[in-house]
Amino acid sequence: MIALLTLLACADKTPATDDSAPVAPALPELLGPAVAPDLDPADDVVEVELVAGVTDAEFIEGISTPGVWAYNDQVPGPLIQARVGDTLRVVFTNNLDEATTIHWHGLRIPDEMDGVPAIQDPVEPGETFVYEFTLPDAGTWWYHPHVRSNEQVERGLQGMLVVHEAEPLIVDAERAFVLDDIALTSDGQMYSFDLDNSHPQQVHGRTGGTLLANGQSGLLTGTSRPGGVERWRLVNTANARTLFASVDGASWRVIGTDGGLIPEPWTDRRVQLPVGRRVDLEVIPDPEGEGPVLNVLVQSGLGFDTFPVFQAELEGEPGDGLPLDWGAEPLPAMQETTQDVEMTFSVTGGGTSIYWLINGATWDEHEPIVVSGDTPTRIVVQDESLANHPFHLHGNFFQVVSVDGEPVDFPGLLDTWQVNGGQRVELYSELENPGRWMSHCHILEHAERGMMTELVVE
Ligand code: C2O
Ligand code: CU
Repeated sequence: MIALLTLLACADKTPATDDSAPVAPALPELLGPAVAPDLDPADDVVEVELVAGVTDAEFIEGISTPGVWAYNDQVPGPLIQARVGDTLRVVFTNNLDEATTIHWHGLRIPDEMDGVPAIQDPVEPGETFVYEFTLPDAGTWWYHPHVRSNEQVERGLQGMLVVHEAEPLIVDAERAFVLDDIALTSDGQMYSFDLDNSHPQQVHGRTGGTLLANGQSGLLTGTSRPGGVERWRLVNTANARTLFASVDGASWRVIGTDGGLIPEPWTDRRVQLPVGRRVDLEVIPDPEGEGPVLNVLVQSGLGFDTFPVFQAELEGEPGDGLPLDWGAEPLPAMQETTQDVEMTFSVTGGGTSIYWLINGATWDEHEPIVVSGDTPTRIVVQDESLANHPFHLHGNFFQVVSVDGEPVDFPGLLDTWQVNGGQRVELYSELENPGRWMSHCHILEHAERGMMTELVVE
C-alpha cells in the first residue's frame, strides 16, 4: 500500500516548468512482494532501509513458523526498484544475533559494495552499514547475505531488486515472483541446520518439501487483461534445488535472463532456473479461458511434477494479443581469447564430513586466481565430483561457449550456469569489472563446505 501511494505521489507531480529540472516518469507498478519505499526525494537516488531481524511467518496457512530471519519482517524481503543509472543507497541495520552482509547478486558494482566478507567486515549485531552504488545495468537481480548463507538465506533473508530500463516498455502488468523451496517439519518448524548431523544436506544441498512463491505456499491470485501484455520476473532463491517454470493459459516467451533483456526472445515448453538464475517472461493471456497460470516444475524421476503457484482471472477490455518489440542490443561478439581460467570441481572426505573443492582447495585454503581485466577470457569449469553445481561468478557477466565440446547457443548474458556432474563447460567473459570476485557453487551447502574461490581481476 505504501508503495502504491509513493507511485501515485510521483505520478501526481506537476509538469516541469522551464526553469525546474524535468521530472522523471514514475517507475512501473510492480505486483509481488511489498515494495520498499524510496526515502530520498531526488529523482536519481533510491534510498531504502533494510533491517534484518528475527520474526515468525505463516508460510503454510494456519501454521506459524518461528525462527524466521527477515528483512523488514517480510519474507521475501522488500522488492527494491530503481532505474538504470540511479544511485541505490541501502541503509542496513543488523538486528540478528550474528554477523551478516548483503550481497547484490549479479550486479557489476565496485567490489567493496559486493557484501562479501573477504572484503567487507561483516555487519555485527546492532551495527548499521550503508551500501551505496550506481546501478549499471537494467534487469532482474536479487540480494542475500554472504555469511553462513545456507542458514541465513533459507531462514528468509532474500529479496528481489528490479532495475528498470531507462524507458521501460509499457505493459498491462508487471509481476515479481521470488521462488524458493523450504525445509519445514510437519508442525512448521525449520528443519535442522546442523550440517554434520543432517549430513545428506552436505551431499545434495538442502532441498525442502514446501514450495514458496513470494513467501507463501498457497496459490497467489490476481487479475489479467485478456490479450494484454505482461512482464513476469522470476528468481530461484532456493538453497539447492533447480526449478523450472512454465505458463498455461497464455502465450509466453523468455525475454530476459541474468544480464537483462536478451536480443532474441525464445519460447520453450519450460524454462530452467538453476539456483540464483533470473528470467523475465513476456506473458500474453489467452483472450478466453481460465486466465494465465504460473507453474513451477521440479524434477521427479525422469519427469516433472507441476505446481501452479499463481493464477490470474481475466478481467477488463481485451487487448490485441500482440507481442512487444523488446529490442535488446545484440550480445557482445566473442573475441579470440588471450587468457584462460581453469576451475576444477571435486569432492573429498567421507562419513559425516565431506568437503567440496575448487582446484583442490576449500575456501579456507584457496589461492586466488589472478587475471587481467578487459581481456577476452576463456573460463573452463570441469566437474570431477559427478554432482551438479550452479557456478556463479560475481561482478562480471559471461556467455556460454560449449558444454563437453558441443557449442551452446544461449542467447543471454549470465552470472550463473548449471554445470552438471562430470561436465566440462567453457565460458567466455571479458572481465570488464576489476576487483576481487568470488566464484562459487550456488548450492549454499556446497559453498559452505568449501566450494568457493576468488578471481582477482586486475
Ligand atoms: Cu548469490 Cu556469491 O552469490
Ligand atoms: Cu555445488
